[in-house]
Amino acid sequence: MSKAPVRVAVTGAAGQIGYSLLFRIASGEMLGKDQPVILQLLDLPQAQKAVKGVMMELEDCAFPLLAGMVATDDPNVAFKDAQIALLVGARPRGPGMERKDLLTENAKIFTVQGAAIGQYADPNIKVLVVGNPCNTNAYIAMKTAEKFGRVNTKNFTGMLRLDHNRALSQLAGKTGRSVSSLTKLVVWGNHSPTMYADYRFCLSNGDNVKALVNDDVWNSDTFLPTVGKRGAAIIEARGLSSAASAANAAIDHIRDWVLGSNGEWVTMGVPSDGSYDIPEGIIYGVPCITENGEYKVVKDLEIDAFSRERMTVTLNELLEEREGVKDLL
Ligand code: NAD
Ligand code: LMR
Repeated sequence: MSKAPVRVAVTGAAGQIGYSLLFRIASGEMLGKDQPVILQLLDLPQAQKAVKGVMMELEDCAFPLLAGMVATDDPNVAFKDAQIALLVGARPRGPGMERKDLLTENAKIFTVQGAAIGQYADPNIKVLVVGNPCNTNAYIAMKTAEKFGRVNTKNFTGMLRLDHNRALSQLAGKTGRSVSSLTKLVVWGNHSPTMYADYRFCLSNGDNVKALVNDDVWNSDTFLPTVGKRGAAIIEARGLSSAASAANAAIDHIRDWVLGSNGEWVTMGVPSDGSYDIPEGIIYGVPCITENGEYKVVKDLEIDAFSRERMTVTLNELLEEREGVKDLL
């Protein structure tokens, strides 16, 4: 018997990430090749015509798993009974900007959407915030949704998976090992240049990757800045922010969360439970193992002095961002 469709809300459906994302969701790459989906597409009133165009193309793919589509400019409609939400819609940065420069422009979007999710979504909805600055936007949405007391606010997450994937590729290049051989990587903290990509625990077919790299100067002077500033490098090269790789990371994040990471670590920005001395509720990138639709933070990793310093820098930035939006909450 075929499964009941899952309702997936996607915001910013007419945008460039949306265009890379929706076809993959409808083809079963995110929730599985046997899982029908209903797409609930949100964008601004002026983008509705473009959303209709995307829907026409989705129809023209004749995806067997696409069980329905709704286009709307009303968040209360978009999130109604949604079981998964990908909050992509927000302004991207341009050259010379940092992601946190978007905070004042984008933050309000996430109070409105957090309220709609809090009132109308499925109580166990899984939320991934992609729109930048994604950790703090996820925090805003979570805090707003919390006021309605209906949805599981542990399920508000921010996207660090693109940083995780970027770090994997850099490490594969440096060690000459395949990306798929690399396990136990984590990117701590904020999706910003302060993020701390940490390969101290990383293994490649059982070999210790830190020992394979054996180059602390490469770590601090090449690896960390390359991963941390990759978004800006792409904006510089493309004239637009990353889209296909961001959509790919969003698919990875939700797929692993729903279908399980098979014991592997994945980086997710999740509301802190106080582990690693990160204040509760801050959306912070941590290593997670996912199983049965739930994530569990990998606990009790040793944090050395270099790592603690890096983790504190990225935490302080998140605390500053939180302070900057407190009036909205
Ligand atoms: P885009 O400008 O191409 O598309 C954004 C879309 O969002 C537009 O269609 C716009 O109309 C819509 N939108 C704006 N406000 C909205 C609202 N209130 N409700 C619904 N829709 C709304 O941008 P993009 O390239 O698709 O990027 C979207 C966001 O994702 C940006 O903030 C970007 O910085 C961020 N991003 C995050 C990551 C990450 O790793 N977390 C990676 C890449 C991009
Ligand atoms: C990225 O990391 O590519 C995105 O967050 C877009 C950006 O502004 O860098």
